[in-house]
Amino acid sequence: MPLVPMRTILEASLEAYKKEAPFAIGAYNVNNMEQMQGIMRAAKETQSPVIIQASRGALKYAEMNYLRHIMLAAIELNPEIPIAMHLDHGNNLDTVKKAISLSFSSVMIDGSLMEDGKTPSSYEYNVRITKEVVEYAHSFGVTVEGELGTLGGIEDGVGSGKIHLTDPQQALDFVNKTRVDALAIAIGTSHGAYKFKHEPKLAFDVIEKTRKLLPETFLVSHGSSSVPQDLIDVINKHGGNMQHTMGVPLESLKRAISLGINKINVDTDTRLAATAAIRKFFSETPEKFDPREYLGPARDAIYEVIRKRMIEFDTEGHIKDVKVMTLEDMKKFYK
Ligand code: G3H
Ligand code: 13P
Ligand code: ZN
Repeated sequence: MPLVPMRTILEASLEAYKKEAPFAIGAYNVNNMEQMQGIMRAAKETQSPVIIQASRGALKYAEMNYLRHIMLAAIELNPEIPIAMHLDHGNNLDTVKKAISLSFSSVMIDGSLMEDGKTPSSYEYNVRITKEVVEYAHSFGVTVEGELGTLGGIEDGVGSGKIHLTDPQQALDFVNKTRVDALAIAIGTSHGAYKFKHEPKLAFDVIEKTRKLLPETFLVSHGSSSVPQDLIDVINKHGGNMQHTMGVPLESLKRAISLGINKINVDTDTRLAATAAIRKFFSETPEKFDPREYLGPARDAIYEVIRKRMIEFDTEGHIKDVKVMTLEDMKKFYK
């Protein structure tokens, strides 16, 4: 099965929602080999379909081709797992074209922000750029995710820092005009580790209303790391200095899934897991110097956190529900 269009994976989640047995697919960010290996170990062990996604920052950090081949290696080594290779927060058509030329089976165009990835855009701009990307990507059978509304959080370089919840009626108009496959909706979540000072209340009504108006569109929740307190504690115990913070509670994510969210983006939690493991290793064994000795535990910690998410999002065991489809099949579907 290996590399599949993201649509085929999300279809399994949408079908399950319709049958009142909802589950979501985690979309996990990758920058390097250890992250990729940790994620795939979790997917294999839990028999979960998975979306592996690379941001522009990740592609730049890894000089594109290194990351491309790490992702392709994951696909080659795990032929039984349906995997979508997704561009996270694409900012213009050129970035999308580049990703498709690198074999990505899915792209996000985040037209809620201007090309700088920071300045909120107008609705008209968002419709125009998203429509343009959909026309291009669909001609290759590639899935497209758009975004409407803005998230909080800026420290990872994506976002304006202001939460602007999605208007469900506008979401209906947006999907009708652009024909995006998946839509990231702003429900009060936020990118990065410093999301909230107190337990957040998500806008569940936005999910409910959007799901009713758009029964065939895959709904996406970004900024959905839970920022586990135990990881923050390990980091701080071993020389870190992270301030008080809270993430999105797992209970809230479960409720979001029950109301129709299909894709959940997680990046920060794997960063925290890796940092906690490495800090602990350095403080407990200061005489060691071989990177394999600390990147190994970091990889194990990433595996552990992703395994938990796959179980909590109920992705576990759903490999069998993904229909085998190729980009060629999808080209015909879009025509
Ligand atoms: O939503 C943004 C992701 O967490 C990617 O972050 O641009 O630092 O790779 P990055
Ligand atoms: P987190 O920062 O909450 O992990 O969100 C990641 C994300 O939305 C990637 O697009
Ligand atoms: Zn995001």
